[in-house]
Amino acid sequence: MAIYPELSGRVVAVTGAAQGIGACTARAFAAQGARVAALDIDAPGAAEVVRAMTAGGGKAMAIQTDVTAEASVNAAIARIVSEWGGLDVLVTSAGGYGRLANVEDMPVEEWDRTVALNLRGTFLCCKAAIPHLKRSPAGRIVTIASISGRTISSSTSPAYAASKAGVIQLTRFLAYTLGEHGITCNSVAPITTLTPRVRALRSAENIAQISAQVPMKRLPDPQEHAAVVVFLASDAASYLNGTVLDTNGGKVMM
Ligand SMILES: NC(=O)c1ccc[n+]([C@@H]2O[C@H](COP(=O)([O-])OP(=O)(O)OC[C@H]3O[C@@H](n4cnc5c(N)ncnc54)[C@H](O)[C@@H]3O)[C@@H](O)[C@H]2O)c1
Repeated sequence: MAIYPELSGRVVAVTGAAQGIGACTARAFAAQGARVAALDIDAPGAAEVVRAMTAGGGKAMAIQTDVTAEASVNAAIARIVSEWGGLDVLVTSAGGYGRLANVEDMPVEEWDRTVALNLRGTFLCCKAAIPHLKRSPAGRIVTIASISGRTISSSTSPAYAASKAGVIQLTRFLAYTLGEHGITCNSVAPITTLTPRVRALRSAENIAQISAQVPMKRLPDPQEHAAVVVFLASDAASYLNGTVLDTNGGKVMM
């Protein structure tokens, strides 16, 4: 991965950092010398990721956080700021869905839960982070959206697809309103990535089918999303604002 010396010492909060793309992103920032707060509802998982980062000489802390609960999010951001003096980068990776579904077989509770995790969670984290990002010399928000929020190209969940489209538009709204404060806001929209959760969701046949539709004929490693998130937080991306970077191997070209 490219090295961005300016990220050394920056304070980065990554939600959903106990596993998958979030964990990989947290490790990628730690490798740049950033101070990384790993926020996740899974406290032991986040602690494990932090242990690995600090064992490698990095500065990191785990904070148990439910991104759907305002008080929990506010307390997590307040703790980061009180321990490290500020916040420079927010990455919202907590998200996902539990099963492939259609509208007619989706209980309203599942709709509400999925939208809350993906959209309300992103909103709450951004809301809590913004006052501190405004004080950073290079404030950054990177939201993790999905190919499902860009287009419909394979089975997914309607609540998930709608909420990820919402995350993208929320990110554009933030880019529009926060640009004057020197904060950039961008989204990364991954294709199906074989994190443990997604492996459990899809059949081997379905995975092979999606993979065959990608011009590169393979699915990504989580590190290939993490590298793009780190780039967006770096000075190299200082004039990218309100964009969606489609880490989908060219399966869908927007
Ligand atoms: N893996 C994929 O195929 C894929 C594709 C496109 C987009 N994405 C997006 O990337 C992000 C990460 O996906 P992943 O596959 O790595 O997920 P994952 O399930 O591996 O990790 C998600 C993390 O979020 C945490 N989490 C769940 N609910 C939470 C809550 N209420 N508060 C705080 N943390 C909570 C989980 O404990 C977990 O550690 C998600 O936003 C997902 O929608 C993933």
